[in-house]
Amino acid sequence: MACLQACCTWIVNILCLPLHLIQAAGLYEIYKRFFPSILYRCSIMYNKKMYDKKKELFRNLSEFNKPGGQLTILEIGCGTGTNFEFYPPGCKVICTDPNPHFQKYLKKSMGENDRLSYERFMVSSGEDMGSVESESVDVVVCTLVLCSVNNIPQTLREVRRMLRPGGAFFFLEHVVADPSTWAYFFQHVLQPFWFYFGDGCEVIRETWKHLEEAGFTELKLRHIDAPLLFLIKPHIVGYAVK
Ligand SMILES: C[S@@+](CC[C@H](N)C(=O)[O-])C[C@H]1O[C@@H](n2cnc3c(N)ncnc32)[C@H](O)[C@@H]1O
Repeated sequence: MACLQACCTWIVNILCLPLHLIQAAGLYEIYKRFFPSILYRCSIMYNKKMYDKKKELFRNLSEFNKPGGQLTILEIGCGTGTNFEFYPPGCKVICTDPNPHFQKYLKKSMGENDRLSYERFMVSSGEDMGSVESESVDVVVCTLVLCSVNNIPQTLREVRRMLRPGGAFFFLEHVVADPSTWAYFFQHVLQPFWFYFGDGCEVIRETWKHLEEAGFTELKLRHIDAPLLFLIKPHIVGYAVK
């Protein structure tokens, strides 16, 4: 089976040769301009299918507020702002994403969720959040982002640095399937194509292992099957406390 998988992956890689060349020539950056409009449509569908899961995940956000303070949430890779509707009224939100072309959709989401106060939109990657003060936020949120960052351990180090002691990191991420399944086979075979379609997204990551090794004091993590396409069906969901 491993041999068949390697052969099929090789064939898909050959078919993706034009895409590899486009990236090597630096032209793939153009896709980043269009990706926000694609993600905007996908996010509406995703939120419909994952509404209950998100509702349940974000239910206890307010528990991480400081007594008498305003809950500060920093979102890494916020995309179009699809999580804002799940945040508690009155909280302060710092949005970050390395792709500046999300701004138009972010503004729309901010307008639709005007019971939150938005501090700023920072164009930065999760691996380098240097302009955010250490121990300055109560909650960091990441949904469908750890599949795309270049360096998960470095991103998680940044998360821990920014969180105040007792603060929490909330996550909802798709991950690699069980190796005994066809989903695992197809995730590996289609990965070269999916990478370009998903703006650097990898469906074969064992993200939970990084969370287990990141040094949080408490980790609540569940593996779930999301009601989505088989490639992104296996998810992990939960939160980790600093
Ligand atoms: C699939 S989208 C998810 C967007 C949003 N979090 C959601 O749940 O709809 C992946 C997001 O990760 C962002 N991203 C990619 N590389 C990143 C990095 N190194 N650090 C932070 N965000 C990154 C992308 O720009 C994109 O907004």
